[in-house]
Amino acid sequence: MCGIIGYVGNKKCLEVLINGLKSLEYRGYDSSGIAYNQNNKIKIIKSTGKVQELENKIDKNILSDIGIGHTRWATHGIPSVINAHPHHIGKTTIVHNGIIENYIELKKELEKKYHFQSETDTEVAAAIIDYYAQNNNKLEALKKAMKKITGSYAIGIIFDDEPETIYAIRKDSPMIIANKDNESFIASDIAAILEYTNEYYLLDEGEIAKLSKNGLTIYNNDLQEIKKKINIYQGNINDAMKNGYEHFMLKEIHDEINVYENIVKSYCPNYNIDDLIKNFPNFSQYEKIKIIGCGSAYHAGMVGKYLLENYANMETSVEMASEYRYEKIFPNKKELIILISQSGETADTLEALRIAKKNNLDTLGIVNVNSSSIARESDNVIYCLAGCEIAVATTKAYLAQVLILSLIAIVSSYNKKIINKDQANSYLLDIKKLINNTKEILDNEKYYQNLAHKIYQNNITFFIGRGIDYSLCMEASLKMKEISYIHSEAYPAGELKHGTISLIEENTPVFGIITEEEIALKTISNLKETKARGSKIYIITTEKIYQKYLNDNFYEDVIIIKEINPLFQSLITITPLQLLAYYVAKLRGEDIDKPRNLAKSVTVE
Ligand code: AGP
Ligand code: GLU
Repeated sequence: MCGIIGYVGNKKCLEVLINGLKSLEYRGYDSSGIAYNQNNKIKIIKSTGKVQELENKIDKNILSDIGIGHTRWATHGIPSVINAHPHHIGKTTIVHNGIIENYIELKKELEKKYHFQSETDTEVAAAIIDYYAQNNNKLEALKKAMKKITGSYAIGIIFDDEPETIYAIRKDSPMIIANKDNESFIASDIAAILEYTNEYYLLDEGEIAKLSKNGLTIYNNDLQEIKKKINIYQGNINDAMKNGYEHFMLKEIHDEINVYENIVKSYCPNYNIDDLIKNFPNFSQYEKIKIIGCGSAYHAGMVGKYLLENYANMETSVEMASEYRYEKIFPNKKELIILISQSGETADTLEALRIAKKNNLDTLGIVNVNSSSIARESDNVIYCLAGCEIAVATTKAYLAQVLILSLIAIVSSYNKKIINKDQANSYLLDIKKLINNTKEILDNEKYYQNLAHKIYQNNITFFIGRGIDYSLCMEASLKMKEISYIHSEAYPAGELKHGTISLIEENTPVFGIITEEEIALKTISNLKETKARGSKIYIITTEKIYQKYLNDNFYEDVIIIKEINPLFQSLITITPLQLLAYYVAKLRGEDIDKPRNLAKSVTVE
């Protein structure tokens, strides 16, 4: 998703803008640009491609103390210099994250007065702001523009006739603002300004921020000045550094042990159910659970379904947010809606949350980014405590989501008296084995590097499994395709023969995930069905299943993981497959942390 940075202060602003845009690259983009005030004239420089290409066009020693910058993830108009932001029209320059849904209707009205050069919806937003600014003061103009615009936006604005001031407005897309000593910032997220400050304010819908060298003022929708609570970012600059790892993704996989330890430290410090009960809402009043998310968050929900049904006896359904938001809702006060989102800003998941609330349903957010929209708008929130995740392909945050769901299953099972205190505490103690086994897997990283050599030249892979293993196939397959660009299919093992098996040909790699003994033989026979058609089989399974069922070596390779409490088995099944995807992508020379076409947080529909 796009990134926004704005600065006013005593530094050379071009340096601050470029550094900020580089820290926002992980969000995904296709072009970038900056606008800055030089001798009371707003100058604009834009470029397609990487921020480095923009930087190559800039003299960072230019004396300018105010400017705005943008990395664009195109929604309206191809990636091009003309469509890149900032957009200047009339006397107004803006950068924008989001979608102006009524831009066609507005453009028709404004075409009489303005000549549009780009294909973007953003340029129309700039024009409507400029239109109102002709006959109103800036605050009034922005208030009128916000009334007129429908859609999602985080917008930074500089006016030609007020070149010492940055304004900011937002609806649905995130925007933070900060003021430290005598300099102020606007940004899409904290990563852009962490080098300068970890204190920030969240701009809420309808509010207007005004930044100048005299400081930062925030106005509510009635244009009254307001004071806001300050947020302190809990992470540190290391989050935004690779610390010796070649890629953020590898660093974040290795960070999974710390994430598990953070979760235990915060929610059940003595591996004790009494602590967990204190820190988690009580879910036993609910008869049903509906989990909603996108991408990996949806896959985490698929794992959660098995845990909640098998341990807490709670009927659970899982939905993609983009589908849920257009379905008929059957409100049921006995149903809890859980929204999973790493960023807490995914447009589809945020809208699903709002629909659930409109239908009077209770909502719980499982979110990683503190104070994000989904975290703030859910009735309750459980933070994943995974720290800042920079790589676009999620690893540690996905596993944190699954672990949080495991804890919800344990606390619900205990509250519903399905397990007693000793059982609950013994389950929690098993997290130590999860941590130790994850460490072993990470220490054995070389194995996955070697295994990657066997498959990195293929152009298709399959991941098949049954039940919870199929849920894991979904995530393993997404990891493989989103960073290595090898096409990958995740399929229920029993379903493959109903058509898709036609894709299997000589040497097609098929991964079988087998962690549940009672259905192991079923999946093994499905794997052999593909073998009969020329596939190369790779299996990930537990020691016990391996010893008992995998004595004839019909497979190329087998990843053997320790057998631990089934509540946590999924987590140590996925880490090896994250490492495998990473090394396959590395061998293919792909841009692992910033895969093509992807964004870290999809804040548009
Ligand atoms: C995960 O690797 C992907 N980058 C993507 O599927 C992601 O999980 C999805 O967009 C949801 O994002 P969220 O968790 O921030 O809501
Ligand atoms: N919709 C705008 C455009 O296509 C902004 C996209 C973004 O959020 O980067 O330019």
